[in-house]
Amino acid sequence: MAFYGNLGAQGFASQTLAPRTIAAPYAGATVGTVSGYAPQVAQPRAYAAQPTFTSQPAFAAQPTYAAQPTYIQSGISSLAPRAATVLGSTVLGAAQPVRISQPVAAAPTKPEGNFKVCVVGGAGGIGQPLSLLMAQCPLVSELAIIDLNVAMVPAEGVQADLSHIEGKCKVTSTVLVLNEDKAIDKAADALSGCDLVLVPAGVPRKPGQDRKDLLNINCDIAKGTVEACAKYCPNAVVALIVNPVNSVVPAMCELWKKAGLDPRKIVGISTLDVVRANKFVQEITGMPCSIPVIGGHAGKTILPLFSQDPAGASIPGDMIPELDERVQNAGTEVVKAKNGKGSATLSMAYSGARLGKAVLSGLAGVPVIECAYVESNMFGGPYFASQVEFGREGVMRILPIGDLTRHEEARLEELLPILQDEIQDGLEYAATREFAQ
Ligand code: NAI
Repeated sequence: MAFYGNLGAQGFASQTLAPRTIAAPYAGATVGTVSGYAPQVAQPRAYAAQPTFTSQPAFAAQPTYAAQPTYIQSGISSLAPRAATVLGSTVLGAAQPVRISQPVAAAPTKPEGNFKVCVVGGAGGIGQPLSLLMAQCPLVSELAIIDLNVAMVPAEGVQADLSHIEGKCKVTSTVLVLNEDKAIDKAADALSGCDLVLVPAGVPRKPGQDRKDLLNINCDIAKGTVEACAKYCPNAVVALIVNPVNSVVPAMCELWKKAGLDPRKIVGISTLDVVRANKFVQEITGMPCSIPVIGGHAGKTILPLFSQDPAGASIPGDMIPELDERVQNAGTEVVKAKNGKGSATLSMAYSGARLGKAVLSGLAGVPVIECAYVESNMFGGPYFASQVEFGREGVMRILPIGDLTRHEEARLEELLPILQDEIQDGLEYAATREFAQ
């Protein structure tokens, strides 16, 4: 294990995003002292400890209790004694209180909040399951879905469907007519009051398409959304899924800054890389884990730091290069298996919801640490994915990357120039454009 030193010391110092106004309780805070909460390192297993989550399914598994009285009320007296015999381990009869089944806790139940979330592209492959997961989140009381009139399912249909799910979340939908409507003209109701805007709206890369062509198309789509956020919900965290994330995030963040807004609110979602690294390590070791993934969010710019988790560190060194490549290319596994009918949607929706919940938890005053691709002066910047702390204002703190092995060190040197080129594409896009007012 080598301490990583030759790419600039700034990579190790924990960066507090100081030049901007930071809410007083967070400024200069260290882990463990922020508002009295220790930031949670978000990982699936962290939720298992919550008693309310584990106690609920027992009720849900017994729906037949509520149905029983109809036998007795039906007047078919010969059935009544049977209804009073054993069902499972409980004896039912007229004297027994009827127990009504409880809603299934399909997601963590803490912390709670009443945040408004918008999913732009919410009727798409990622957008639908992402909307489902956010509608179940105990931090969300309103979910707005925006999509085009040409979406594979009408956004109103997704709204109607999700509106039948138990819980407090109110769901609305807004439809934009392709090549006619702009979000800045039509999405005022959907975006006003939003705390978090998740953006999977975009088009996938077509075979033979140049990277810059895709970049310009998806940046134009993202710009339409982000400029409307700047107008209607300038304090919201805007979390971008649309690819290429390495370039779209810098482009949108620079435009956001040109409009005088706080760059801590623009976040590139790289969580899928973390989720995949965790899964692949657990497959090998049988242990749950939390692997930080740094750099960027495409190909070689994805750098999982297996050495920084006990399960990951237990994997023999000669297996690491192959495992590293598997995380980098995992998207291709899904594209091939879907045989031309889409890319990662379900695992991406899971990952987007995980990041979205981390952001909302931070806004609710319970800081959470997750990897994300954000404005950062790590290694000369200006954008880098690493562990960040989400708090009351969005990205509150960028954590140091820690010790690297020789393999990780070499990979970091390899990825930095690639990432720089992709960032540059985004900066060039932003240099020649402004948000519409
Ligand atoms: P999809 O085509 O199924 O869904 C995209 C949705 O966005 C469609 O419903 C479409 O109508 C909508 N849309 C397009 N332009 C819009 C606009 N201006 N306003 C509102 N809605 C708009 O595609 P899928 O599979 O959901 O992927 C979406 C994006 O996510 C793609 O750019 C893809 O490359 C990216 N992606 C990112 C991943 C990541 O890890 N960050 C992983 C997988 C995909």
